[in-house]
Amino acid sequence: MLIRNSSNGFDHAVPSEITSPDIYRQRRRFIAHMASGVAGIALATWAQRDARASVHRPGKLAAMDAMPSNVAGAMVMDKVTPYTDASTYNNYYEFGTDKSDPARNAHTLVTNPWSVQIEGLVKKPGAIDLADLLKVAPMEERVYRMRCVEGWSMVVPWVGYSLSALIRRVEPLGSAKFIQFETLADRKVMPYLNSRVLDWPYAEGLRMDEAMHPLTLLTFGMYSEVLPKQNGAPVRLVVPWKYGFKNAKSLVRIRFTEQMPSTAWNKAAANEYGFFSNVNPNVDHPRWSQATERRLGEDGLFAKKRKTLMFNGYEAQVGQLYAGMDLSKNY
Ligand code: MTE
Repeated sequence: MLIRNSSNGFDHAVPSEITSPDIYRQRRRFIAHMASGVAGIALATWAQRDARASVHRPGKLAAMDAMPSNVAGAMVMDKVTPYTDASTYNNYYEFGTDKSDPARNAHTLVTNPWSVQIEGLVKKPGAIDLADLLKVAPMEERVYRMRCVEGWSMVVPWVGYSLSALIRRVEPLGSAKFIQFETLADRKVMPYLNSRVLDWPYAEGLRMDEAMHPLTLLTFGMYSEVLPKQNGAPVRLVVPWKYGFKNAKSLVRIRFTEQMPSTAWNKAAANEYGFFSNVNPNVDHPRWSQATERRLGEDGLFAKKRKTLMFNGYEAQVGQLYAGMDLSKNY
C-alpha cells in the first residue's frame, strides 16, 4: 500500500510493508569512518551508536548507523558496485582530471571543521555546522543507480537524508524557485584549482521541486562508512535520475534563488551540458550517444553495453516533474 505524504505530495511505502533485501539483512548498518580527518565531526553525535557497534574495521571507528530507506525507488535490486571501484574511479577535478587522481590526491582535503552556508531567499540564512547538519533528519541507506555523462554507471549504497528535510528547516521564501550548490574551492589543498578546466568554485543547481523530491539525497556516507574524501566528504549531493556531474561534492554553500542559477559545466560548454541534465537515452550528447552504458565492476571492456534507462530508471518517481517539457531542448 502507498500513502500520500501531504507535506510533499509524494507516495511512500508504509515501513511495516517493506521487506529489506537479503543484502541489507546481512549487513550491519554502521557508518564506520577513518580515525582521522572527519573523525571529530561525528564522534560526539554518534558516540552512543558507536557503543552499540559490534563490527569494527581495523583502524576505523564505527560511528553512525542508517536505516534502510522507505522512499519509493531508493533501493534498487541491481548488484552493488564494489567499494574499490566507487572509491578509486572518480571525477573530482579539483584534485585532478584522471579517474585515479582524486583517490591519490584528496587526502589533503580538511573536512573538520566544516560548515555549510545557507543564503539567498530563505527565512533562516546562516552557517550550519556539520555536527548540526548531521542531525537534521535520521540517516537512511539508499542504493541508487548512478550514471555518468561519460557513459559509465555504478550502483552505490549512499547514506544521508532527503535534502527536503534541510530545505524545510531553513524555510525558503515563496520567491525561491531554484537552489544553487557551491563546493569548496581552496587553493591550499586543491592542486588543480590552478587549471582552467572549469570556472571554480564548482557549482550546480536544481529547480525547487527537484530539490524537494524525496529521492534527492544530502549525502554523508557510502557503503556504511563516512564518505571518502575523493567521493565528496564530508557532505555532497546525490540526485540519481541526473547525470553524475549534478552531484556536487564537498558542499559549502546552498543558495536559494529566483532565477535559474549558473552551473560550472553549463558555463564551460552550454551546448553540451544543460541545466536539467536528466539521464535520457533518447537525447545524445553532441559528441556521443547516451543510449547505452558500461557498469563499473561488472561489464568488462568487451562486454555488450547495457541499455540506459529513461531518468536512469527513476521515471515512475520523477517523470511527472517534467510533464509537458521538451526534453531535447531542456537537456
Ligand atoms: N563535485 C566537485 N566539487 N568537483 C567535481 O569535479 N565531478 C562531478 C560530481 N561532483 C565533480 C563533483 C562528476 S563529473 C561526477 S560523474 C561525480 O561527481 C562523480 O562522483 P563519484 O566520484 O563519487 O562517483
